[in-house]
Amino acid sequence: MKITPDLNRLLNELETLASFSDAPAPAVTRVVFSPQDLAARAYLREILSAAALELRTDAVGNTFARWAGADPNLPAVATGSHTDAVPHAGRYDGTVGVLGGLEAIRALQRSGFRPRRSIDLLVFTSEEPTRFGIGCLGSRMLSGALSPENARLLKDGDGNSLKEVLQEAGLDGTLENVRLANTFYHGFIELHIEQGPLLERKGIPVGIVTAIAAPATLRVRIEGSGGHAGAVLMPDRRDAFLAAAEIALAVESAAKATWSGDSVATTGVCSVFPGAVNSIPSRAVLEIDVRDTDLGRRDGMLSAIRAACEAIGVKRQLRVEIDLINADAPAQASPLITEALSASCQALRIEFMFMVSRAYHDSLFISRIAPTGMIFIPCRNGISHRPDEYASPEDINRGVQVLASALAQLAQ
Ligand code: GLV
Ligand code: MN
Ligand code: MN
Repeated sequence: MKITPDLNRLLNELETLASFSDAPAPAVTRVVFSPQDLAARAYLREILSAAALELRTDAVGNTFARWAGADPNLPAVATGSHTDAVPHAGRYDGTVGVLGGLEAIRALQRSGFRPRRSIDLLVFTSEEPTRFGIGCLGSRMLSGALSPENARLLKDGDGNSLKEVLQEAGLDGTLENVRLANTFYHGFIELHIEQGPLLERKGIPVGIVTAIAAPATLRVRIEGSGGHAGAVLMPDRRDAFLAAAEIALAVESAAKATWSGDSVATTGVCSVFPGAVNSIPSRAVLEIDVRDTDLGRRDGMLSAIRAACEAIGVKRQLRVEIDLINADAPAQASPLITEALSASCQALRIEFMFMVSRAYHDSLFISRIAPTGMIFIPCRNGISHRPDEYASPEDINRGVQVLASALAQLAQ
């Protein structure tokens, strides 16, 4: 079977998808269920339908596009990723797995291959935590890791509930129906840019992911006391931002002290109230991302950060409240998938290496309900979540070939 992706079409589709953005090119900002995200979803539905795939959207907006197999009662094989993009991102994160997955299916269709199992392309809702504070919203719900009751408690930064945002987007299904049975998929493969430098440094075009690091998120609210920036004397202040700054440094220290090569911690959000140059900050909110490939080390960093928050609160006489938004276990790839991927690389004579994913992906949750694995392709200088994110056409092409070949093996 000869698998020949239509690379020009795929690159054009990546470019079109990147144009649905709230930031000027080359930056891409596409927050879930924003008008740009809704327009991008409409564009996707158009090209998925044009490939003769049957479309279904569940109550949280996960989209399923099915190429029906000869034996549609068998558990299907699936691929997919996400199309939402963090603020000021690039055009490849997630989208390579969605549009590359579509091109893998189209290339198989053109090759004359007829699958025995159906093949699904999934577009997951809100892999990025930007709007609701929690990553992998769609795949979390598919796997049952986030219950409908807890999903209903989610609110965006403007106080809109998830349910209100879904209704506004025309999605009024029952969240209870989102969860998939553990027997629904025979296997799932996600194609993604590496978002790190290892493949490029080693000159290896494909990574087969064996494990995904364990992510956690903390939200820290600091309540101090505001006042006039000129009139309140320094000894009398309880400045919430200064406590936030000390906590951010403690976050860095927690990761550096644990340093294992895989321990990372980031304070990516700091909002200060009231936000006036001549007012002392009375409130601050931090969002902190903590990850490690080892669960014990990750939890050790969380404990160190909690202890630092408490100590800084006492020292500065401020109220510090900590919410644990998520603390997920790491995932292991399934041998069924890693073997299918290595067999595909060998058949295609594409060099590969096994590696760990330090970023999280929807695969972290799909691995709880189906044998799961990931294909990584290099990205320039390891850069991601930035407008200069770039994956070469050759690398994208190889990723799509490996994906198509593995989907064919699993679906036959
Ligand atoms: C996903 O985008 C992550 O933050 O790892
Ligand atoms: Mn991302
Ligand atoms: Mn991604």
